Amino acid sequence: MTHTPATMTAVMHHHYGEADVLSPGTVPVPTPGPRDVLLRVKATALNPADVFLTRGKPAVVRLGLGLRRPRQTIRGSDVAGIVEAVGADVTQWRVGDEVFGEGRATLAEYALAAEDKVTRIPAGITFEAAAATTMAGLAALHGLRVRPVGPGDKVLVIGASGGIGSFAVQMAAAAGATVTGVCSSGNVQAVLDLGAHRVIDYTSESVLDTEERFDLIFDNVAADRMLALEKLTTATGVLLPNSGEPGPDGGALARVTKAAWRGKVLRKRIGVFYSSPNQQDLRALADMLTDGSLTVLMDTMFTLSHGADAMQRVASRHARGKVVVSVP
Ligand SMILES: NC(=O)c1ccc[n+]([C@@H]2O[C@H](COP(=O)([O-])OP(=O)(O)OC[C@H]3O[C@@H](n4cnc5c(N)ncnc54)[C@H](OP(=O)(O)O)[C@@H]3O)[C@@H](O)[C@H]2O)c1
Repeated sequence: MTHTPATMTAVMHHHYGEADVLSPGTVPVPTPGPRDVLLRVKATALNPADVFLTRGKPAVVRLGLGLRRPRQTIRGSDVAGIVEAVGADVTQWRVGDEVFGEGRATLAEYALAAEDKVTRIPAGITFEAAAATTMAGLAALHGLRVRPVGPGDKVLVIGASGGIGSFAVQMAAAAGATVTGVCSSGNVQAVLDLGAHRVIDYTSESVLDTEERFDLIFDNVAADRMLALEKLTTATGVLLPNSGEPGPDGGALARVTKAAWRGKVLRKRIGVFYSSPNQQDLRALADMLTDGSLTVLMDTMFTLSHGADAMQRVASRHARGKVVVSVP
C-alpha cells in the first residue's frame, strides 16, 4: 500500500527562455486520467525537444504551449519509474510495476504517462538507462527503418556522439553495415567504442571532403547543406535530415519542406520521419538493452534539484550521449 503525497517537487518555468528560467517548486501530484498511470519518477532523460519547449522556439511550439508563457510549466518526457496509481480504465499495469517510455511533465517526483506509451523495464536494466533510451533510441530505430541497412551498406552518422547518433551507430553496426561517425576530437574514441569503423573529426576535416559514398546519411546536426550532403549518397542512398536545430537550409520546418519538395519533384532520396513512441518498439529497445547489443553512452547524471543544469547541458549541443536526471 503506497501513500501518495498531495504535493511534489518539480522543476518548472513560468517564462520562456534558456535553462536558467528553470527552478524547483512545489505543485500538486497529478491525478491520472482513465487510461493514464501515475509514476513515481526514478529517472528522466532530457532531449533537444525539451530545450525547444523551454525556449518556446521555434515560435510555432507556443501555439500548443501558450503564446506569452507556458501553460504547462514542467518539461520532460523520457521517463522510467514505478507505477504509483492507475486510472479507472487501465488494464496493463498495476501499482509497483517498473516501466519506462514517454510520460508528460517528467522533470518532477511524479508524472503521468498513457498506459500504452510505456513498457516494462527488464531485470538488470537501471531506471537511468531505460529513461535514456526512450526518445533517442526510438528516433535511431525509426530513422534506420527509413532505409534499412545491412552487410555491404555504408552508413554516415553525423552527430555520432549525441543521443540519437550514439544509438544509431550501434544499431547500424549491429545490422552489419560499415559505419562512419562524425564528431569532435574529444569524442572520437567513444564513437569508435560504440562500433563505428571510421570517425571523421569535424574540427580538422570536413565531411564534405570525403571520397566515400553512403547508402544512408543520418544527419542529426544540420551543420551542412542538404544539397551538399546529398552528393555523398550512393545511387540508391538516402539522406535523412533529422535535426530540429536551425542550419544553412533554415529551421526544421524549412528543411522538411525542402526535403519533401526535392523528394517529390526531383525524385531525390531524402527521407523525413517523425518518431513517436509505441510499446512494440519500446520492447525492442528493452530487448537490445538486455542482450547487450545496445548500451547507453551516458554524459552526465544530475539530481532533480539540478534540473536546470541538466537542461543547460543538453542546450550546449555537446553532450556526449545522454543527460539524465535521477530522482531518489
Ligand atoms: N525525427 C524525429 O522524430 C526526432 C526525434 C528526436 C530528436 N530529433 C532531433 O534530432 C537531433 C539530434 O538529437 P540528439 O538527441 O542526438 O542531440 P544531442 O544529443 O544534443 O546531440 C549532441 C551531439 O551533437 C554533436 N555535434 C554538435 N555539433 C556537431 C557538428 N558540427 N558535427 C557533428 N556532431 C556535432 C556533439 O558532438 P561534439 O560534442 O563532438 O561536437 C554532441 O555529441 C535534434 O536536433 C532533435 O531535435 C528528431
